[in-house]
Amino acid sequence: MKEELNLDWANLPFGYIRTDYNVRCYYRDGKWGEIEVSSSETINIHMAATALHYGQEIFEGLKAFRGEDGKIRVFRMRENAHRIQESALGLKMQPVPVELFCEMVTKAVQLNSRFVPPYGSGASLYIRPLEIGMSASVGVRSSTEYLFMILVSPVGPYFKTGFAPTNICIMREYDRVAPKGTGRWKVGGNYAASLGAGEHAHELGYSAVLYLDPKEKKYLDECGPANFFAIKDGKYITPASDSILPSITNMSLQQIAKDMGIEVESRHIPVEELDEVQEAAACGTAAVASPVGEIDDLDTGHKYIIAKDGKPGPVTTKLYNTLRAIQLGEIPDTHGWNTVIEETK
Ligand code: PLP
Ligand code: COI
Repeated sequence: MKEELNLDWANLPFGYIRTDYNVRCYYRDGKWGEIEVSSSETINIHMAATALHYGQEIFEGLKAFRGEDGKIRVFRMRENAHRIQESALGLKMQPVPVELFCEMVTKAVQLNSRFVPPYGSGASLYIRPLEIGMSASVGVRSSTEYLFMILVSPVGPYFKTGFAPTNICIMREYDRVAPKGTGRWKVGGNYAASLGAGEHAHELGYSAVLYLDPKEKKYLDECGPANFFAIKDGKYITPASDSILPSITNMSLQQIAKDMGIEVESRHIPVEELDEVQEAAACGTAAVASPVGEIDDLDTGHKYIIAKDGKPGPVTTKLYNTLRAIQLGEIPDTHGWNTVIEETK
């Protein structure tokens, strides 16, 4: 029998908590090896590994939920498997086969099932797959050996406000990625490049930066570690850009919106159009759909007041509730997004 955990499930931060196991697989001599299970929190890495010097590091983020029926569901893991392959191709790394990715996600969740937060706590099990270049190289070239591993951690809401409006800002002095750069891949370096802007925004009291397109700084791009959408005259509008991560949450919300008869537009959104929207939110695995209250353009001094009554808007609320209900098995999963994980006793 698995020992019960004494965690304060309803008040978990979005952070790292040690669990029982992680899973690992090495690519060596031109092939992926056996899946290894470890309870160590450290890895052995050559000091000249390409991950450490030349940034060959890519990762993913997805979640497992304990449903109303007690079952564990992982949300859209095949999409994450495909996306990390795109990231690998982008950084000239060895792509992890989709089936291997899914098998390792399943194993990581099964082995740590006592860390999947209970139904009703609002928390979830965050799953963090990552791949790194392992071979030693001082010349700038891609690795011949890779480590793909998955760690998990129970988490609470990403933004401290939870499902309540949060304020974000626009600052043209920072970009997180270059035009035609690595923004469409989930690459560790993108996050390193965003730390300065993020900390600056936090110091000024904002929860995230709303980045503009790095080429012209005319159009909305994405919102810190999340995509962005707005509701304008009943339509769901979201930025189309080749410098943002294709968010699986955003894709799912667009589908849910269409299912509700809401028109969806994925297109360039000029900054000034924010004056015409009735609702806005940051969306992602960690952020889910976090409503935005106010967007302050720190360069022009203009304030876009979105949530005029300080409350999440009705469409965002409906989208959020539907997404959560699917993930928790409360309503039918009509698109086949969930994978139910069999628990071992
Ligand atoms: N954009 C960035 C930069 C992210 O880090 C994330 C988080 O994964 C997202 C968007 C949202 O993507 P997803 O919904 O697939 O988690
Ligand atoms: C996610 O939503 O999965 C992310 O990767 C965001 C994270 C960088 C905190």
